[in-house]
Amino acid sequence: MLKAKITALGCYVPPRVLTNQDLEKMVETTDQWILERVGIRERHIADPDMATSDMAIRAARCALEQRGMDASEVQAIIVCTVTPDHMFPSTACLVQHALGARGAWGFDLVAACSGFVYGLTTAAHLVSGGMYRKVLVIGADTMSRIIDYQDRATCVLFGDAAGAMLVEPADGGEGFIDFLGEVDGSGGDFLKMPAGGSRLPASHETVDKRLHYVHQQGQQVFKYAVRKMYETSRELLERNGLALSDVAVMVPHQANLRIINAAAERLGIDRSRVIVNIDRFGNTTAATIPLGTRDAVAQGKLRKGDVALFVAVGAGYTVGASLWRWAY
Ligand SMILES: CC(C)(COP(=O)(O)OP(=O)(O)OC[C@H]1O[C@@H](n2cnc3c(N)ncnc32)[C@H](O)[C@@H]1OP(=O)(O)O)[C@@H](O)C(=O)NCCC(=O)NCCS
Repeated sequence: MLKAKITALGCYVPPRVLTNQDLEKMVETTDQWILERVGIRERHIADPDMATSDMAIRAARCALEQRGMDASEVQAIIVCTVTPDHMFPSTACLVQHALGARGAWGFDLVAACSGFVYGLTTAAHLVSGGMYRKVLVIGADTMSRIIDYQDRATCVLFGDAAGAMLVEPADGGEGFIDFLGEVDGSGGDFLKMPAGGSRLPASHETVDKRLHYVHQQGQQVFKYAVRKMYETSRELLERNGLALSDVAVMVPHQANLRIINAAAERLGIDRSRVIVNIDRFGNTTAATIPLGTRDAVAQGKLRKGDVALFVAVGAGYTVGASLWRWAY
């Protein structure tokens, strides 16, 4: 079977910053509470005229530019998001059109915070199957559009951003190694946007009850995330005969610094190899893994030939971890 590798990475973060001090003026919270309980200092928020596809397109262009590739060469586009521009058409269609990726096919992938890990794995298999040679995976979320800025327990957590990676056939030993995933719908009620779908279509009542926003039971999600990040990472490494010392960096989903620290501690991985940028961006849902990978590369912690471990847990519940040998 062909191997697939990541050949480029691009990110887009909107310029407007929302600090903890700004939030202190909006809800009853403090900079100290947010820093100590979650580890966030600031997050970026998209301007009202910017939707998810706009950020996705910018991240995609950045990845294509890095690779020196014209958009017309892209054969498939996977947009991982829970905040699409519309219920339909898919954001992938909007991105395809704006990029000028003529002839490409694509779709949106809904797996919340695990979206990018699922998208990358899907891309790896499209390439390994031999039918596609250039697949663009984008994680993009405008969480600020579905966050209730009157709910202090959720509004401090999230930010907006997009990240994109290009997946192509590998010639050497670099690229995709393995993936382990799981969905557990029994956790669906703990983190969700209750209205706006076919179960509870939009009505005056759903708007009055603020049901078009993210609702979560934070402690339930917290415990599940710590356990699953640890268990999934450990099982994936074990079944590939890899030790933690073989992993150059762990790029975890950024939901809460305490989740990351607890999972890393249980795994026993040295903290210097765990990528953390939640302080600057908050939880950007499907964009955290590319944003973290960008930092890992920029900091010289992830170089050609190194093994990266991506791991995420999100609403659903969705769980996913993958191992990649970095290719550039
Ligand atoms: C949401 C989260 C930060 C809350 O932290 P926590 O330590 O679990 O806090 P609790 O929910 O137990 O709340 C403790 C107290 O802090 C309060 N609180 C919640 N948000 C607050 C805020 N922004 N500022 C100040 N106090 C706050 C609560 O009201 C509660 O007060 P009470 O004891 O008077 O009722 C944490 O549970 C979390 O990160 N969960 C996972 C969320 C997540 O990962 N979501 C996305 C998954 S991809």
